[in-house]
Amino acid sequence: KKRVVSGVQPTGSVHLGNYLGAIKNWIALQELYETFFFIVDLHAITLPYDAPDLAKSTRSTAALYLACGVDTSKASVFVQSHVRAHVELMWLLSSATPLGWLNRMIQFKEKSRKAGDENVGVALLTYPVLMASDILLYQSDLVPVGEDQKQHLELTRELAERVNYIYGGRKWKKLGGRGGCIFKVPEALIPPAGARVMSLTDGLSKMSKSAPSDQSRINLLDPKDVIANKIKRCKTDSFPGLEFENPERPECNNLLSVYQLVTGKTKEEVALECQNMNWGSFKQILTDALIDHLQPIHVRYQEITSDPGYLDSVLSEGARKASEIADTTLNNVYQAMGFLKR
Ligand code: AMP
Ligand code: TRP
Repeated sequence: KKRVVSGVQPTGSVHLGNYLGAIKNWIALQELYETFFFIVDLHAITLPYDAPDLAKSTRSTAALYLACGVDTSKASVFVQSHVRAHVELMWLLSSATPLGWLNRMIQFKEKSRKAGDENVGVALLTYPVLMASDILLYQSDLVPVGEDQKQHLELTRELAERVNYIYGGRKWKKLGGRGGCIFKVPEALIPPAGARVMSLTDGLSKMSKSAPSDQSRINLLDPKDVIANKIKRCKTDSFPGLEFENPERPECNNLLSVYQLVTGKTKEEVALECQNMNWGSFKQILTDALIDHLQPIHVRYQEITSDPGYLDSVLSEGARKASEIADTTLNNVYQAMGFLKR
């Protein structure tokens, strides 16, 4: 069976972009593959954060995975920091990562520009090495993520190849290593629609957890009236009718795509249904569709969080299964890199 891994940071609240770009796509994958979905709490400390809130957000993100349909009889769900191998492999990988690769990362450039040099921790720079470690530890085949993670996945692939080249192959076999290579080279799985959900207040920037205005995003746990209000106030335009892919109408394209994804209709069906609609009627059907789609998630979330013991047991079982695989890879890497066996 092919292996699939992915994760979301427990910072801020999980929004429609995280859901449509990533989590929603995990649900179909768990039927076909061996899946590992983690909450990347170690990534969440790469920007200033609220320590007293971290544990709570980690639990609530885990509960949301389950509420969205991650099935723990099929997928392993765990907290990144509970599997020590992630940080340990990261150190080993960082010795093989050229600084230039990290300096080129768009997300690093953007986030560090916003924060200012003195406020940027080194971990923001080495963030992609930790992400590579998350993926390579499990010998993953596929990594379902949104468009913004494409460059990090590319770095992961290059790093896997580089380590395989430097420490794998003949030299590794001489040290007693088995098989041809140390790491499997993974592939990104970016959905055809929903990979880049845009802000409600500006169709040219992506929906994000860190945008100052909450009006710019729909959080998965927003109550009905908040959703209705955000859609009512979201940015539109004054063209007649509604259409996909008009570069002058980024908001229109974005909202139609969201409607398409939450109703499960095809793009053609939506284009036809909405071509002569005005914004008023469209906002109404979009609001209804969003509420219909998110309501069952709210209900399941309440159920899951009302039994904290259940979530704890899911997370500890997930970490146990993950550790077994992760430790095997980690031991292989130590061996390949020439360390004295303990
Ligand atoms: P993060 O919130 O940065 O941990 O992102 C978690 C997942 O959501 C990653 O797979 C991202 O690529 C995806 N994601 C984040 N923002 C968006 C967005 N606006 N549209 C689509 N996917 C997104
Ligand atoms: N960097 C990803 C993001 O912010 C989250 C992440 C960390 C991840 N490790 C991962 C995603 C491993 C997939 C696989 O969106």
